[in-house]
Amino acid sequence: MMGAPLAGVKILDFTHVQSGPTCTQLLAWFGADVIKIERPGAGDATRQQLQDIPGVDSLYFTMLNHNKRSITIDVKNAAGKEVLWRLIRECDVLVENYAPGALDRMGFSWESIQEANPRLILACVKGFGPGRFEDCKVYENVAQCAGGAASTTGWRGDMPMVTGAQIGDSGTGLHLALGIVTALYHRVQSGRGQRVDCAMQDSVLNLCRVKLRDQQRLARGPLPEYSQFGEGVPFGEAVPRAGNDSGGGQPGRILKCLGWEQDPDAYIYFIAQAAVWEPICDIIGEPGWKSDPNYSTPRARLPHLNEIFTRIEAWTMKHDKFEAMDRLNAHDIPCGPILSMKEIAEDETLRASGTVLEIDHPTRGPYLTVGNPIRLSANPVTIQRSPLLGEHTDEILRDVLGCSTAEIDTILWSGAVGPVAKVAAE
Ligand code: COA
Repeated sequence: MMGAPLAGVKILDFTHVQSGPTCTQLLAWFGADVIKIERPGAGDATRQQLQDIPGVDSLYFTMLNHNKRSITIDVKNAAGKEVLWRLIRECDVLVENYAPGALDRMGFSWESIQEANPRLILACVKGFGPGRFEDCKVYENVAQCAGGAASTTGWRGDMPMVTGAQIGDSGTGLHLALGIVTALYHRVQSGRGQRVDCAMQDSVLNLCRVKLRDQQRLARGPLPEYSQFGEGVPFGEAVPRAGNDSGGGQPGRILKCLGWEQDPDAYIYFIAQAAVWEPICDIIGEPGWKSDPNYSTPRARLPHLNEIFTRIEAWTMKHDKFEAMDRLNAHDIPCGPILSMKEIAEDETLRASGTVLEIDHPTRGPYLTVGNPIRLSANPVTIQRSPLLGEHTDEILRDVLGCSTAEIDTILWSGAVGPVAKVAAE
């Protein structure tokens, strides 16, 4: 990828599942040579997880591993270890998200990595940072719970709830990618690599920082923008779950639209922004609310939010969500249709912009994926299919490590790389 922003950066992608692969996929999209290291015969566990076509790499894997190359290495085999050490000496970044201590157990401590290649950046995802949970294995929903997201999501009086957005896994991958690029930039001046650590709990909390804001506001009094304030329900000691209340200073709700009885996604998010209060009153047929002191100012409206949104909903229920969107946007009223994944998959605008695109794959055929949401004006990204397991093993040994054919044969027959079946048949 000549001219790509990260062209020439070699990344050892020793990651699996979602958080690590999300990070390295972003770097691959920007042109880094991302070399995915996988266990011979098995690979990243997600190749087999949630398989929709038997024996074919799952969408879970293909959608998180675009633009990468794959080499299989058994790092518990002596020759395999040596291959990884040689790669560490040649590459710029090693990214890993195995269980706490796993890299050390494999024989690759940070100290020994630094000694082998002082310019290398080691980037790690773990569930928790230093402290009482540091040794725990963590998946997405555990991070959502421990990072404060679940306790603040859902309905008051009901149990905590996780969100479908993968803020623990993909959210941490995003944070880690920024850490890596920052460390690469720092290396230009310092000449040295460093460690980049991202804990999933910390990343989720970072995305939930407005709720920690509210926790501190709560110490000074009730939170007037939460529906329960208007309903006269007292606040407890911690930030409550607030349903679909807007998290900011402008009240908002999800409201029913025409057809909601049959269509589970016939809803719109409606923000009663103060700046457009007058057009809102006109549209919903309550022009008197523009001058009525009980409704005319944002503060006066707070105790009446349930009444106000019930009235707005009486209007949205007469329109389908797209028609409502058009009518409201004509007056700059902030709103958004609730889009199902089916609608997103079929959305022509998203297809035209490359946000949703079709990729061909040699064993599964065409599938949909999400394009790179970060657009650089000088560096458009071409999304390439994910690699098959070990597809580039020979190529990487040859062009990254400079191995001769004889050397590659020796490595192959040691059982360190390549399909385990080949070793078994020997
Ligand atoms: N060759 C040989 N062994 C390999 C290997 C390879 N190429 N790649 C991985 N392994 C080994 C590891 O060394 C480890 O061995 P060990 O148990 O002897 O230490 C083993 O595979 C399994 O790794 P582990 O990370 O423990 O996998 P797991 O499936 O039990 O746990 C997670 C999965 C995600 C819970 C765990 O990796 C984790 O907590 N990661 C950090 C947080 C994270 O990223 N979570 C989000 C995932 S989306």
